[in-house]
Amino acid sequence: MGAPTYWDYLHLPELLNCQGGLDDAPSPDELHFIIVHQTYELWFKLVLTQLRLARDHLAVPHVPEERVPFVVHHLGRVNAILRLCVDQFAVMETLPPQDFLDFRDKLMPSSGFQSFQLRELEILLGLTPERRIKYAGTDPIEHIRSQTHSPSGKAVAARLDATMRESSLRDAVVNWLSRTPIMGSSPGDPGDAEVVDRFLADYFARVEQHQRDGGEQLVTVLNGADEDKIRARVGMAIEGVRGFLLPESAADRRARAALVFIESYRHLPLLAWPRLLLDTVVELEEQMLLFRHRHARMAERTIGRRVGSGGSSGVEYLDQTLAYRIFPELWSVRTCLLPRDRLPPLSGEEKYRFAGG
Ligand code: HEM
Repeated sequence: MGAPTYWDYLHLPELLNCQGGLDDAPSPDELHFIIVHQTYELWFKLVLTQLRLARDHLAVPHVPEERVPFVVHHLGRVNAILRLCVDQFAVMETLPPQDFLDFRDKLMPSSGFQSFQLRELEILLGLTPERRIKYAGTDPIEHIRSQTHSPSGKAVAARLDATMRESSLRDAVVNWLSRTPIMGSSPGDPGDAEVVDRFLADYFARVEQHQRDGGEQLVTVLNGADEDKIRARVGMAIEGVRGFLLPESAADRRARAALVFIESYRHLPLLAWPRLLLDTVVELEEQMLLFRHRHARMAERTIGRRVGSGGSSGVEYLDQTLAYRIFPELWSVRTCLLPRDRLPPLSGEEKYRFAGG
């Protein structure tokens, strides 16, 4: 082959020949509908690649410090794409509801519900089968597997099966977190469990005091109005913090201690990148939720409260998926943090300096 052209390098003739829909003569509105969907699926493809790269950097028994920025880099790219995906629904919304009705019957019962790449994305992030929302008793993955009449049905099902055998970003993040030194102590060090438990107990006592002080300050400022309600609310908040900081399982205690530790002492050189990594994961989850929310509002604006083309309750189903949280601990930790002047005194500080620093 001679010098490559732009169109050969990008396979443009093939790419631009895939918008025929079902009958090779889509109306301009249907072409719009197809191109917007295809664009999303291309972005999903890139998101999946970046997620796997991020996961692979983290899913090793020891993550060298210099690898953490790579994880942040790949997840940062995912976030930039998802932000774009959220905004891109504005393009879809230029399709007036009545114009969609002109060709909607033709595509039924196909639906974004069958986006196997979105399912892969959910699986790779760490959404477990028990937590996935079913509609009318149908599990979305089983639904895709049942499409055996489709020429590519088998290959699609095989892709999903293969993805389900992979480890998730959630598992990689939690395992990596659990190995964070707490007050200088690492898993396997003598007395590590006691150091972790002492740190959590001390942190909890301080949060309890901080929240009670905040409640009393509010009571004073409000001249005693609603003081019983305020104290009851503070009491409930403290119980929530107790549940988070003092869970039953030792594995949970170590991971949560790590979260609190990283957020609290992020000025330590070796905690700066881990803290950025966690923030990037929170942003990823936030962007996924915004994506779901924006899609649901776009759908509501276009089809109202109709049954979805895939047969679900439509917008009602989409709104239920807003409850998905794959990294709930990364959100909960924010409720439990202390201001700097109330933090437990640090020990083992030298462990968190740069090598040679
Ligand atoms: C006129 C435009 C659109 C409407 C009215 C619409 C409506 C819906 C509805 C009602 C569902 C629920 C399942 C069902 O069909 O019963 C759904 C699912 C879905 N749609 Fe759309 N959609 C539109 C455009 C898009 C676009 C542009 C994307 C691009 C990615 C998309 C991606 C998805 C995905 C991934 C799901 C599955 C969501 C989940 O199960 O969590 N949709 N859509």
